[in-house]
Amino acid sequence: MILNKKILITGANGLVGQAMCSLLQKKKIKFVGSVKNISESSFSFDVAEMNISCKHSCKHVLNKFSPDIIINTAAFTNVDQCEINKEECWMVNVVGVENLVMYCKRKNIHLVHISSDFVFDGLNGHYSENDVCNPINYYGKTKLCSENIIKENISNYTIIRTSMIYDYNNFEKGFLSWIANKVKKNQTINIVDDQFRTSTNVHDLVKSIFVIINRKKTGVYHISSDVRLSIYDIVCKFVKKNGFDISLVNKISSKELKIIAQRPKDSSLNCRYAMKNLKYK
Ligand SMILES: NC(=O)c1ccc[n+]([C@@H]2O[C@H](COP(=O)([O-])OP(=O)(O)OC[C@H]3O[C@@H](n4cnc5c(N)ncnc54)[C@H](OP(=O)(O)O)[C@@H]3O)[C@@H](O)[C@H]2O)c1
Repeated sequence: MILNKKILITGANGLVGQAMCSLLQKKKIKFVGSVKNISESSFSFDVAEMNISCKHSCKHVLNKFSPDIIINTAAFTNVDQCEINKEECWMVNVVGVENLVMYCKRKNIHLVHISSDFVFDGLNGHYSENDVCNPINYYGKTKLCSENIIKENISNYTIIRTSMIYDYNNFEKGFLSWIANKVKKNQTINIVDDQFRTSTNVHDLVKSIFVIINRKKTGVYHISSDVRLSIYDIVCKFVKKNGFDISLVNKISSKELKIIAQRPKDSSLNCRYAMKNLKYK
């Protein structure tokens, strides 16, 4: 039973990390959260400072807490910054995961790792777990590389590929933060209508992670909503639902968008396997 397991959640101050920690708190399940820089926030749970990119830091914290389950939500998640700062992106998204994997391998403990729809090139969409990966930006490449390190080294793993995560109660994190910041100030935003995604409610995602650790579900799962929408439609839905002014959202094409990293055209995920096996919806 999960109740007597020691759980460690990395990236405890991130969008997914925060939601995972509050779910476990609500369920009165003990865990330790880890963050890169402990001085930056205050926490209502046990927390440790661990830079996953640093072997020494990982060794110190993991040996101290000796977790039975690691939920890795820590990552370098800014897709354009990953293109600019490849070295740091690699250190967090690949070396960081490798550091955790090596511990899990030694202790034979369960690693739950969050990956991304950006491991796909977006030429087809509606991707299933066994579809061929072919990332088109550096962030996606590092996420795929870390998946491969996990698969090559351990069998007690769960890789979750997810996409466009949101929390309607928390506009501070994720893609909603940029949108909310702009529309709150009555500033217009340009959103592409020729790229397609499935978006993910963070609470569905963490509920599914709970099922995974509780029922020891291993393998690869696609976890998102089963509704494929253009990014424009996803943003409009959010803006309307939260009572902001919809006329602030401009529809544009990808050609008009000035971004650094290439984005997949249609990275929508087929989540039937996870929905059937984890019943998170
Ligand atoms: N958000 C999405 O739409 C989305 C979509 C697909 C996949 N994912 C994946 O989902 C996972 C969670 O993403 P998220 O949205 O929760 O991201 P997030 O809000 O950016 O959180 C990531 C966390 O990782 C921490 N971190 C960064 N470098 C670290 C390091 N070297 N050591 C320890 N912690 C470090 C960050 O801490 P600081 O803030 O202190 O730097 C942050 O708390 C990631 O694996 C991401 O790739 C997210």
